[in-house]
Amino acid sequence: MLTVFVIIMFPLASFSCSGLHQISQNKVAVLLLAGGQGTRLGVSYPKGMYNVGLPSGKTLYQIQAERIRKVEQLAGQRYHCKCAIPWYIMTSEFTLGPTEEFFVDHGFFNLDKSNVIMFEQRMLPAVTFDGKAILEEKGKIAMAPDGNGGLYRALVDNKILDDMKQRGIQYVHVYCVDNILVKMADPVFIGFCVTKGADCGAKVVEKAYPTEPVGVVCRVDGVYQVVEYSEISPETAQLQSPNGGLVYSTGNICNHFFTVEFLQMVAQKYEPQLKHHIAIKKVPYIDEEGNLVKPIKPNGIKLEKFVFDVFQFSKNFVAFEVLREEEFSPLKNADTADKDTPTTARQSLLAQHYRWALKAGARFLDENGCRIPEKLSLSGTEDPPAVCEISPLVSYFGEVRIIIYGGIFKTVQECI
Ligand code: UTP
Repeated sequence: MLTVFVIIMFPLASFSCSGLHQISQNKVAVLLLAGGQGTRLGVSYPKGMYNVGLPSGKTLYQIQAERIRKVEQLAGQRYHCKCAIPWYIMTSEFTLGPTEEFFVDHGFFNLDKSNVIMFEQRMLPAVTFDGKAILEEKGKIAMAPDGNGGLYRALVDNKILDDMKQRGIQYVHVYCVDNILVKMADPVFIGFCVTKGADCGAKVVEKAYPTEPVGVVCRVDGVYQVVEYSEISPETAQLQSPNGGLVYSTGNICNHFFTVEFLQMVAQKYEPQLKHHIAIKKVPYIDEEGNLVKPIKPNGIKLEKFVFDVFQFSKNFVAFEVLREEEFSPLKNADTADKDTPTTARQSLLAQHYRWALKAGARFLDENGCRIPEKLSLSGTEDPPAVCEISPLVSYFGEVRIIIYGGIFKTVQECI
């Protein structure tokens, strides 16, 4: 039986204070899952290096690095100390080299490089639909990373949990590389999970429509888990609650909270119980003449473990619903697709910053000095009426007041 939980509204400011307090005490780390091959986006380099075409030209990695710096600063200001959030980055054979090089070339985006820890996940052979090995080149079997759930083995292989313990880390925010709106070490989420005594938590967004291809966070026969969209019948997906919303509305956005203790328990005890899922993907191969072929449609199977499959082992699981337009816009596909593309990612971020600016009192003028009419509700897949990008170094949550002096914008941070 599938059950869903009631989401209760709490005062966010107290969670934010609690989260910032944990950060100020150097107890919080972020962990990025960046071992994927990004086959749908179709670029030859790691997705974090992608530039979605913002006015600043910033890549996903740079945006994330700057959010870390900003939240460190907010916690330090609030609790009068200097603190750091270590950034663990899980890579794979495909992404480790270029990611390392990219960080070095960009001076680790002004983070202390000793707080950026990259490590590698394992690989598994990719096979054809009838189970045969695929040759990537003569004498070399095609291998693929073992899924983002490969994290738990990789933590042990690379002694990452020991490193966390040495640094005094107690809480870890785990997230995917491709969500342009991700709030690194979100103090509200951290504070919520810590206050509730959770060992494991997931941020969720309300599903946009019943058949939206996202997993649903729910309880199955009393056990918390993510049920994949492909595993729910259309009738069940469409069930409505008395208030008219979907019964199974809690979409998983790969934004998780774990205590280090929980990660340790999973890594030591439960990891072998995690099942492999089948992922149908395009796997490059060599044909009988020895030519490399890049298939245009999926031709193979990769075996992947999923990061969220550990929810079942949690003793105190919590879900935290957030607004999609503020927190979730993944970059999955090339611009030829109609959703989750570089264009939609850019639009989501610029729409968010436009809203933040309006809320802070900004008014936009066109080149003739005429006021551009405000548009308060933007669909997330449309351009805002004015282009406004706010650096993460200026604002993390939209906590900014904009003062206009004779046409010059100045920003003033407010205490949160
Ligand atoms: P996706 O499932 O979207 O896969 O990964 P992907 O590899 O990025 O893209 P496609 O499916 O080939 O187009 C979700 C997150 O999990 C990470 C990805 O880097 C992304 O952050 N991931 C995925 C890993 O870290 N390791 C893996 O083996 C697979």
